[in-house]
Amino acid sequence: MKIAIFASEGAPYIKSGGLGDVMEALPAALARMEGNQVVLVLPYYKKIRENPAYDVQFVTSLTISLGWRQQYLGILKLKNRTDGVQVYFVDNLYYFGDRDGAIYGHGDDGERFAYFSKACLETMMAVDFIPDVIQCNDWQTALVPTYLAAQYHPYFPGTKTLFTIHNVEYQGWADSYFFDDVLALPENYRACLDMDGAVNVMKAAIETAHMVSTVSKTYARQLLFPYHAHGMNEILAYASWKLTGITNGIDINTFNPETDPALPAHYNAETFSVGKAACKAALQKEVGLPQKPDTPLLVMVTRLVGHKGLDLLRYVARRLLRERDCQMVILGTGEADFEKFFTELAEEYPDRVAAKITFNLGLASRIYAGGDIYLMPSKSEPCGLSQMNAMRYGTIPVVHSTGGLKDTVPPSDENGQGGLGFTFESYNGDDFYGALLRALNLYQYQKSAFQALQHTCMVQDFSWDKPAKEYMDVFQKMRASL
Ligand code: GLC
Repeated sequence: MKIAIFASEGAPYIKSGGLGDVMEALPAALARMEGNQVVLVLPYYKKIRENPAYDVQFVTSLTISLGWRQQYLGILKLKNRTDGVQVYFVDNLYYFGDRDGAIYGHGDDGERFAYFSKACLETMMAVDFIPDVIQCNDWQTALVPTYLAAQYHPYFPGTKTLFTIHNVEYQGWADSYFFDDVLALPENYRACLDMDGAVNVMKAAIETAHMVSTVSKTYARQLLFPYHAHGMNEILAYASWKLTGITNGIDINTFNPETDPALPAHYNAETFSVGKAACKAALQKEVGLPQKPDTPLLVMVTRLVGHKGLDLLRYVARRLLRERDCQMVILGTGEADFEKFFTELAEEYPDRVAAKITFNLGLASRIYAGGDIYLMPSKSEPCGLSQMNAMRYGTIPVVHSTGGLKDTVPPSDENGQGGLGFTFESYNGDDFYGALLRALNLYQYQKSAFQALQHTCMVQDFSWDKPAKEYMDVFQKMRASL
């Protein structure tokens, strides 16, 4: 099958969060399956352009229109990727190549990614790759199904589109003038783009894509309810016949404690008690905590944003530090008040808490490996990948049972039996505290049961093999429909 995947980020070239990880592993997993030809299209950001590791070849250039604008589109082909995925970069200095700062958060993001969505389709035409299916991701490429249906259908008569929601919170809102000024779609698409008098590109994708997916089975069900859907529940309810959930995997080669180059010691499911002890001691040293082998080390790698459940951690943190012997390491950046809270907590408890307010992939790996217990009390979590990374590195998760966390961390009882970690059902700090205490008690009073649970976590199959097959089933189904 000819599969085209369009996304605003993809590791190892560029990554700001979980979408970047998925765009590294999913295309590769699909390309490993016999009979597939897989193409991935990404923007040519400054950070990629300036990275000498990526050897690109100029294919062609053209001019494309975006409303009244005429914009350059350069198509670059990545030469040095060996896993069968063909990567193309969309080159435009004004929108991507010459922008400093983060990849999102510019005043004209709507226009930048409208351009990118159109450029992806133009790229497919220019390189003469007319896909059987297109998979596009989140609001940044949400205009692809709509452009295809409204303007590009003659060039892609048999192409089916799958729109994947990685997080419904970010929908791509714009003022209503955006419809005429930037999108310049035919008048009969105005209602499709309109939501409450403004433009919402995610809504348009849900309506025009052949199928819609999200990144876990539980989240697919939750999206039909207002609590999780951020206003999109009714639109998704109308589309529920074509909505499906496929729970993400992780790249088990990148996240492998036996080979991860960022780790000071390597280990597997049989040797972890020695290997993790070495990683723990090294981590304590690296973040400036006393090297105490028997003190449970609670860890968290996260964007410091509201839906990650940081208010619950804030609520329990001081009680926990007063009542229990433990250490805590937090890595991440985000909202100022959370950054401030964790920085202050670390100042208050310099021997107990380390807060690293930064984005550091190597340190993230060392935290997955060196920690004992991984905290993920997210209020809402489409899938979540770091709980799987943690389990693969033998670190026991404590999670709010929601979205993908529910699908990937079945609950263990207080003896560590029957599941993969400790969970709580209702989103409140005391229930989170209860789950944390169960994890700490197992660590402190039932060492061998804790180790047995670590072993069980480490031997789980979190690879992309199964999810990639499920994507193929969806693709087959789309192709079979008219
Ligand atoms: C988003 C979601 C996260 C998911 C990731 C990859 O970052 O918030 O839950 O794991 O996308 O699909």
